[in-house]
Amino acid sequence: MRSRFTASFATCYFTRMFTNQPRRGFLKSAGAGVVLLGCAHGSHSDSPHEGGDKDDNVTPAEDLMREHGILRRVMYLYDDAARRLDEHHELPVDALAAGAALIRRVIEDYHEKLEEEFLFPRFEKAGKLVELVTTLRKQHVVGRTLTDQITALSKGKLADSDRATLASALRRFNHMYRPHAAREDTVLFPALRGLVGAKAYGELGEQFEHKETQMLGEHGFEHAVDEVARLEQAFGLDDLTKLTA
Ligand SMILES: [Fe+2]
Ligand SMILES: [Fe+2]
Repeated sequence: MRSRFTASFATCYFTRMFTNQPRRGFLKSAGAGVVLLGCAHGSHSDSPHEGGDKDDNVTPAEDLMREHGILRRVMYLYDDAARRLDEHHELPVDALAAGAALIRRVIEDYHEKLEEEFLFPRFEKAGKLVELVTTLRKQHVVGRTLTDQITALSKGKLADSDRATLASALRRFNHMYRPHAAREDTVLFPALRGLVGAKAYGELGEQFEHKETQMLGEHGFEHAVDEVARLEQAFGLDDLTKLTA
C-alpha cells in the first residue's frame, strides 16, 4: 500500500506535474521540508482503479474536502429531486434512496466520524473554534435525522401525501450542509495543521487512510465516486456540459 521511492522518481514527478494527476497527492509536507514520495507506477492514468498501490499520502484536509465533493454531488441530486417533487414530475426514487444510503455510508458513518473523533476534540481541547465545532456537532446529529427521514420516505412507492414532506427534508438537508461543508473547508480544515503541527498532521493522514480502508474497503473513495456518477445518470444529470452557463 505504501508509495515507493524508486529510480523512476524523476519521470514520475514530472509526469504527475504536467498531467495534473487526479488522485491522492504525491507530495507530502513533513516538518523540515517537502518529502517527495514516488509514484506507485511510472505511467499516468486517469482511472482511479488502475494500479495496485493506492497513494497514501493525501493530506487530511484534502481527504475530507474530496469527501465533501461526494456530499455536494448528492446534494445536487437532492435539489433536483425536491424540484421534481414540487412540480409533480417523475422522480427516480430508487436513485434518491441510493443517494441517501451513500450519504449515510460515506459521509455520516465515515467522514463525520473522522471529524468527531480526530478533529473536533483537538479544537475543543485547545479552546479553538469551539463555537463553530459545537454547531458542527449539532448539525451532524440533525443531518442523520434528516437522512433517516429521506430514507424512510424514498423506500418503495412514494405516496402523494409524502411528496411535500420529502421535498422539505431534502431542502433542509441542503440548506444546512452547504454552509456546514463550506465552513469546514474554509475555516476548520485550514486551521487543523497549525493546531496539531506538521508531524501529527502527517500521522493523521495515515490514520484517515487506515480508517477509510476499514470503513469503506479498498478504493472506497473511488467506488463512491463511481456510485454517485451512476446516480447522476439515473437522474439524467450526468452531462456536465449541459450545465455551462
Ligand atoms: Fe461536518
Ligand atoms: Fe465535513
